Amino acid sequence: MRMLWKNIKGLVGAYDAPPPYLKGGEMRSLPVLEHAWLAIEDGVIVDFGTMDTFQGIADWSGLEVMDCEGKYALPAWCDSHTHLVFAASRSNEFLSRLEGKSYQEIAAEGGGILNSARALQAMSEADLLADARNRLQQAIRTGTGSIEIKSGYGLTAEAELKMLRVIRALKEEFTIPIKATFLACHAVPEGEWTAATWTAHIIDQALPVVANEGLADYVDAFCEKGYFGLEETQSLLDAASSHGILSKVHVNQFNVFGGVKLCVNSNAVSVDHLEELSSEDIETLKYAADSSNPTFATALPGCSYFLGMPYTPVHDLMKADVPVALATDFNPGSAPSSNMNRVVQLAILKMKMHPLEAIAAATINGAAAMECSERAGVIARGRAANVLLTRPLNGLEDLAYDFGEEPVEKVFIDGIAQ
Ligand code: NIG
Ligand code: FE
Repeated sequence: MRMLWKNIKGLVGAYDAPPPYLKGGEMRSLPVLEHAWLAIEDGVIVDFGTMDTFQGIADWSGLEVMDCEGKYALPAWCDSHTHLVFAASRSNEFLSRLEGKSYQEIAAEGGGILNSARALQAMSEADLLADARNRLQQAIRTGTGSIEIKSGYGLTAEAELKMLRVIRALKEEFTIPIKATFLACHAVPEGEWTAATWTAHIIDQALPVVANEGLADYVDAFCEKGYFGLEETQSLLDAASSHGILSKVHVNQFNVFGGVKLCVNSNAVSVDHLEELSSEDIETLKYAADSSNPTFATALPGCSYFLGMPYTPVHDLMKADVPVALATDFNPGSAPSSNMNRVVQLAILKMKMHPLEAIAAATINGAAAMECSERAGVIARGRAANVLLTRPLNGLEDLAYDFGEEPVEKVFIDGIAQ
């Protein structure tokens, strides 16, 4: 199978030698090759360039030529933070919010994550997988070409492992990069548990199994008041590290109390949410960004939008040269959408990111925030052709300007239209 895309209005994120990620101040310099062509063979990007360098077609055999006049080609979206495996919608809680309750009040009454956990514990692994498969296919159809998926709705050791096995099955079925994160410390389960006893239980009983069976690429904790504090988060990250597992952590969603520093000092790959950030947090992330081992700052604007909460101050982060990533946080409670186009649109409209910054955050930096830069996030020779093609646009700002339209016309995974 050979494909030639010609007359592409802009080939975005295409590199001869891709950098691993872009620091805050570099994100706006994401390359756009204007009036370009792209050649794909057997699902792999073999070459690209500008139309004035195009040599013409010598061999027409089995070649599909696509005229991309007016359209942009981008690396498929890299969604580095999702909770895509879950049992049921929580639209009833959404209605309660419309009727006046807050997200935190609903959680305090045993709803929220605990509600999702009750439903997930009762659901079979096969049924969970069937639903997760459909959701992943849907995400891919909107342009997602790599994804991180968390456990965290099991809240028993057994149900957490069930979730991780579902993610492992997705990894086996799909060719796109998928990363699994063990988030047993998502909420303190019902019963006699405290944050401390639950964390100790997870470290002693579940983490060794997760590590031995290679079920997770990362650990995560909801480091937040009323969930898991600094002590529990630190002990989880230390235990994970003794098993050779790094972390991606939910932190600073509602409160600032030192979680960012803890995560950075523990070499977390990313800190996610950050709707609340102190100047010390930004200094800490800036310091890490200056090293060869940054901690990515992942903003989740779909969650801010859906909960009516503050947006992550990405400009402060980018000004400090911190590499920023964008992700959906897809989950039934705080962000029920897997559509990365919505996230990019919100990043531009609500966080005032430049379109190139938003795209960089949702591609090259998203890939780096889940350590799959070698396989995703850029257009480069020898890489899988996980590429999306927009409908005709005046410019990349139309990703947000035409806010009622779907920007993506076609999505290709391994060169195959989805
Ligand atoms: O990232 N904040 C913690 N966890 C999820 C929401 C979980 C839920 O409400 O089900 C989040 O927003
Ligand atoms: Fe989340």
